[in-house]
Amino acid sequence: MSRKDYLEELGILGGIPAFDDKLHVGRPNIGNRERLLARINDLLDRRWLTNDGPYVQEFEREASKLLGVDHCIAVCNATVGLEIAIRAAGLSGEVIVPSFTFIATAHALEWQEITPVFCDIDPATHNIDPRRVEEAITPRTTGILGVHLWGRPCDVDALTEIARRHDLRLIFDAAHAFRCSHGGHMIGNFGDAEVFSFHATKFFNTFEGGLVATNDAGLAQKVRLMRNFGFSGYDEVSYIGTNGKMNEMSAAMGLTSLESLNEFVAVNHRNYEQYEKGLSGIPGVRLSTYDEAEKCNYQYIVLEIEETDTGINRDDLMEILWAENVIARRYFYPGCHRMEPYHSYYPDARLRLPATERLTERVLVLPTGTAVSPEHVAVICGLIRMALSQGPAIRQRLLDRETAVGVDARNKKRA
Ligand SMILES: Cc1ncc(COP(=O)(O)O)c(C=O)c1O
Repeated sequence: MSRKDYLEELGILGGIPAFDDKLHVGRPNIGNRERLLARINDLLDRRWLTNDGPYVQEFEREASKLLGVDHCIAVCNATVGLEIAIRAAGLSGEVIVPSFTFIATAHALEWQEITPVFCDIDPATHNIDPRRVEEAITPRTTGILGVHLWGRPCDVDALTEIARRHDLRLIFDAAHAFRCSHGGHMIGNFGDAEVFSFHATKFFNTFEGGLVATNDAGLAQKVRLMRNFGFSGYDEVSYIGTNGKMNEMSAAMGLTSLESLNEFVAVNHRNYEQYEKGLSGIPGVRLSTYDEAEKCNYQYIVLEIEETDTGINRDDLMEILWAENVIARRYFYPGCHRMEPYHSYYPDARLRLPATERLTERVLVLPTGTAVSPEHVAVICGLIRMALSQGPAIRQRLLDRETAVGVDARNKKRA
């Protein structure tokens, strides 16, 4: 790992990459290995590997305690968790959803032939804009599916009020928001149900996994049955269901990760504060902030790059960082509405989504988590500062190099 002082040292201009190994966004956090292995030994001894095993039950109890939610149902991943929650809540027709989200949010609707109606976001929060939600309601609308993007809560109060006034169901994709709060209450307690993801790339993981949280006992009972094919007894099926069960290995990982949860958050917080300091005062860069008065997990370091102030755009910066082995990512580019099948269904959707369109061109997410040290963050901030403060000069050198390569190729062809 090395700091760089001169443009010529940049990897993109032929220098040696700042990092020997790639630094990724969302490298898994691993808790205490011995505790995990002991649990795995136990579950193997028990020969109870799945089907609502003791670790899944314990994990659900612990999650309920942590979130202060009456019902927590562990599932195999958040995508299936969303599909089940959407079905159990009786959604149909059209559901209003942001386009600036991971594609699974939209697919969970489309998979069951419910039309996702893409709604624009508030550029300040990156979350679904309640004013735009209200405009998108039609007689076919049955629900709103909000996303607590980056773990920052949606405007829960406004959405709850809109849902109440229009008699709509309200579900939250809380894939990013485990251990976050809104108004002092833990995420998991809002809307009809909230769905968390524990995918390996999330700061808290169960390899693959998720959780449906709700305070509605009837809905919880339905979700529980639907998670297990709809079985309500050995030989009795009450609903259409699927296989959404979490297995014992994942629950063992979940219980072990819970023991390190505060440590994971502390590391994310430390990295976030260091990025905040290291990137402050660079024109054209905005780091998304977290509300320190709430519980946050700080799992995403989100930059917005404004080309008019920097001379280079987000994609240029990404290329510069990749050449240093900093694998920064363009989340959620290019937006669900530009991906299939939605792009073909609604070719004009972009006209209704100006804030989403703008943001998908500007957002860049940087590595954090327990695999990222303060030294890593210092070097990354130095690289970004150099790249953005000397953007036009870097661009010129790349152009010169392209021209030189072109001339060289033409000369070789002639020879
Ligand atoms: C916003 C959002 N929703 C849903 C999902 C799907 O989660 P899973 O991978 O657990 O199915 C993700 C996952 O990455 C996500 O970021």
